[in-house]
Amino acid sequence: MADADAPFVLVSNRGPVTFEEDGTVRRGTGGLVTALTGLLAHRSAVWVASAMTAADAARSREAGDRPFPVRGPTGGEYLVRLVESDPIAYERFYSVFANPMLWFIQHYLWDLSNAPDVRRHEIEAFEYGYNVVNEDLAHAVIQEIEGGAAPVVMVHDYHLYTLPALVRRARPDVFLHHFIHIPWTQSDSWRVLPRNIRNELYHGLLANDIIGFHTQAYRRNFLQCCRDLLDLDVDFERGVVHHEGREVWVRSYPLPIDADATVAISQSARTLEFEREVERRRREFLILRVDRADLSKNVLRGFTAFDLFLDQHPEFRERVTFVAQLMPSRTDVAEYAEYLERIEALVAVVNHRHGTPDWMPIHLKLRDDLEEAMASYRSYDVLLVNAMFDGMNLVAKEGPIVNRRAGVSILSENTGAHEELGEFALSVNPFDIQELADSIHAALTMPAEERERRAAGLRKIVTARTPGDWIDDQLDDIRSKAAETDGS
Ligand code: G6P
Repeated sequence: MADADAPFVLVSNRGPVTFEEDGTVRRGTGGLVTALTGLLAHRSAVWVASAMTAADAARSREAGDRPFPVRGPTGGEYLVRLVESDPIAYERFYSVFANPMLWFIQHYLWDLSNAPDVRRHEIEAFEYGYNVVNEDLAHAVIQEIEGGAAPVVMVHDYHLYTLPALVRRARPDVFLHHFIHIPWTQSDSWRVLPRNIRNELYHGLLANDIIGFHTQAYRRNFLQCCRDLLDLDVDFERGVVHHEGREVWVRSYPLPIDADATVAISQSARTLEFEREVERRRREFLILRVDRADLSKNVLRGFTAFDLFLDQHPEFRERVTFVAQLMPSRTDVAEYAEYLERIEALVAVVNHRHGTPDWMPIHLKLRDDLEEAMASYRSYDVLLVNAMFDGMNLVAKEGPIVNRRAGVSILSENTGAHEELGEFALSVNPFDIQELADSIHAALTMPAEERERRAAGLRKIVTARTPGDWIDDQLDDIRSKAAETDGS
């Protein structure tokens, strides 16, 4: 099993590329695509994903709704099958149920005295949206593994919790491995969902053979949820949930980045051109954040802390610029659109309060441009990652291996990356604005030697493992579990 000839399918909502109306091909943003791009370089597989634009759907139809090869904008060739769903179902799936409902539950983002209200709108978004898209993708997966012996399917993320049960029903012999790229929160946060929906999600997910998370903490939370919410028999020691006569393994596999590919992009001609611009405009110090414009990233408190820092340390006025490169994300979801507006408004306030005719304290770049972000990675003195909760956070790993100034990382203790990098970063509680302001000051006044020591420590940890190792760990577990099942 899991041998080289067995069908190997990967399935996620977002695929590696998106086709635009004007014919351009864009790389998908976010940690998931970054992770899986490495996986496909590792072994041949078909990547099944949702068609997200009209151009995606057109391209898929052109290929007879079957897999076709695409070249990723940052190299590599993939076999991709893009699956079209009914647009109304997709809207309900993506913009109502997956985001915000599940995303907010899994990042503790709901403001429970105000939201969410669960009404027919949300319930129907699950039944006629989330489940429909899961069925469409499951159908494509089942087709791709048809006729092949001992197929392996790797499922990704929170969009696809009901898919595993559908695939298992059609192919009881399939090996299903599901990796979840976001946090798994404690059991009470799941009580927001109506019980039947919650049960359907958990039973769908427990049809997998292995469920993987970035950290031990998420793994523990998941096991505890299975006991608290479903009253299942759970072995915490071995990380096993007993479900319908099967054993489900629950594991943690912290995701590494592809250091070579990252460094290569950071040295491209276009990155270096951006870098000249960054250097031309920079002041003595540069603070940087790079994020999707997502509520979980805690962008507002970051600016508020910078505002406070400038109040408390006027000696830094005109000497420091805060560059915030934020990629607009999920803008069809009301909470996200509103968040972008609040970001812009706060930046205007801080710039107005502290700015001078030739100094703008915060430079906001609202666009998705990897090379522009890389140029700033090269030049920062402080990298700010203050997410409220974040599955891993790859920026925290990319920055230190690209940076050339022994920049200091300020890192939220609620990111997955903190389990690995905390020792060499300045750890912050993301809600504590005073602590963050103090950390900015500590970073900017840190002796060069200490900066070097921390930067070297970060680089060493980040480069110690590759995405190939990450996949090998998962494939090893797939092999051992399959061998155990075959032998039983
Ligand atoms: C996170 C999620 C991914 C998602 C990405 C971008 O990294 O874990 O599943 O693809 O954000 O979000 P989007 O909604 O644009 O796919």
